[in-house]
Amino acid sequence: MAARHAFEAGAMKLSINGRSVAVDDAAADARMPLLWLLRDVLNLTGTKYGCGVAACGACTVQVDGAAVRACVTPLQAVQGKAIRTIEGLGTAAAPHALQQAWVEQQVPQCGYCQSGMLMAAAALLEAKPEPSDADIDAAITNLCRCGTYPRVRAAIHGAARRLAARRR
Ligand code: FES
Ligand code: FES
Repeated sequence: MAARHAFEAGAMKLSINGRSVAVDDAAADARMPLLWLLRDVLNLTGTKYGCGVAACGACTVQVDGAAVRACVTPLQAVQGKAIRTIEGLGTAAAPHALQQAWVEQQVPQCGYCQSGMLMAAAALLEAKPEPSDADIDAAITNLCRCGTYPRVRAAIHGAARRLAARRR
């Protein structure tokens, strides 16, 4: 059993959306993908399962600010790091600038890819507050079967303008 777990005996501690989360290691192996923990153990189902092989981006979350594909990220890689999921991006009462821009641009169609798109966009704007089209195309490698890419790009520019105005 000791070889199976990289964790110390007892609950593993993760930081998710600003909260310390203790997970019993009977429920989550150190090698379990973060996506499994989020969806199946913690019921944070805003993060979606698409391909399971880091190809589509539906499962994108932020880890220490960077966009990470949770389907291929083991729990042992995110201990002690700040994890943010779509549930931590904003609320209906206090939406993130990206979520406001998403509504303004009416970005989603079926919606399945959109939480991953938003988290990738959040990571981009934190790293590069005023991205060019090329920056967006390079950073947002998420797949959208509905083809919302032009509106995703427009919404990221809109959110960047809104955030820039707040900084002035
Ligand atoms: S489900 Fe993780 S990249 Fe597709
Ligand atoms: S909105 Fe349908 S997959 Fe992107």
